[in-house]
Amino acid sequence: MDDFRKSSATTDSFVLAKRPVGAPVLSDFKRISSPVIQELKENEVRVHGLYYSVDPAEWNVGEVVKSEVVARVAESKSSQFRVGELVIGEFPWSTESVVLSDKVRKIDIQKAFASEYLGVLGQSGLAAYFGLVEIGKPIAGETLVISGASGAVGSLVGQIGKLFGCRVVGITSSEIKMKFLTAHLGFHASLNHLSDHFSEELEQACPNGIDIYFDDVGGSLSDSVMKWMNHLSRVVICGQISSVCSEATVSGKRIESVLLNRSILMQGFRVSDYEKKVPAANLKLTEWLTDGKIESTETILRGFDRLPEASSPHMKASKLGKMIVKAEDWL
Ligand SMILES: NC(=O)c1ccc[n+]([C@@H]2O[C@H](COP(=O)([O-])OP(=O)(O)OC[C@H]3O[C@@H](n4cnc5c(N)ncnc54)[C@H](OP(=O)(O)O)[C@@H]3O)[C@@H](O)[C@H]2O)c1
Repeated sequence: MDDFRKSSATTDSFVLAKRPVGAPVLSDFKRISSPVIQELKENEVRVHGLYYSVDPAEWNVGEVVKSEVVARVAESKSSQFRVGELVIGEFPWSTESVVLSDKVRKIDIQKAFASEYLGVLGQSGLAAYFGLVEIGKPIAGETLVISGASGAVGSLVGQIGKLFGCRVVGITSSEIKMKFLTAHLGFHASLNHLSDHFSEELEQACPNGIDIYFDDVGGSLSDSVMKWMNHLSRVVICGQISSVCSEATVSGKRIESVLLNRSILMQGFRVSDYEKKVPAANLKLTEWLTDGKIESTETILRGFDRLPEASSPHMKASKLGKMIVKAEDWL
């Protein structure tokens, strides 16, 4: 474990230079170089980024972008971390960072690949698990519909739904992604929400109506889904990706009467709501992953330079599962 990179004189970072309109484009980011911090203080750890999670998040303009990062310890002033160990934490998009030891967790690469700690064993896996199990409360034979189904969270929700015996229908945005969901992940049906006949196709794919709608997307897509929700069904609001970075005020048909007349439960959540249940959920997700009951889908771009590109709309349109950037000088 002594092949870690030596600290260089400067560290490179990506700053959000201006507020994106819709999904971020390359020109929304600026690369900066700054001198490295030379001397660590007590309980600080110097880390070098290895795998960077690229998420549909809103960042602050003028600040270095942050996300979950798997990194290697390059120097440590903490008794808990040794040089060479692999760790994870919410770190800046920088080649090198100095962080407090209580913001860093070790990862175990005997259990899973390092990158999987950003996806199935990270926030995506926990969001899929808690949203579906705690709010969706799946029962065998029920119909589960997922929007953003080919994404990091959606692709896991469908796989977990299958383990509970649900009929799983994924809503996605291209023929290739539809095929991936059914032929590769074994979803029972998949649909393209950009199809002119989406509503009819959804009705056909859900002959018994919808019992659980796991929503990553929101907006007009969700309005179409609400039409087919069953009595006593559940709507899990995980994300509203269609309105991230959008300033538009959305108005339209209200759904409250549908919720009322069909006794539908609609609930949003944050993974942090279930903090105490995280160890048990992680154990379950690790067990399913190790037993081959769920699989991790990742789109990995190689090269720290490619972080802005990984966030861009054209990359998002083609990616499957979790979007990750791997620092290029790690093999
Ligand atoms: N509640 C929580 O604690 C929690 C935790 C983690 C994530 N989230 C949220 O969950 C959602 C999914 O996260 P993720 O990590 O799975 O993201 P992701 O990997 O980027 O996947 C999101 C998927 O949504 C679809 N999509 C993207 N932009 C869209 C648009 N403008 N209109 C319609 N569909 C669009 C795409 O799927 P298709 O091409 O297949 O349609 C995309 O792959 C996000 O909103 C995220 O913020 C919430």
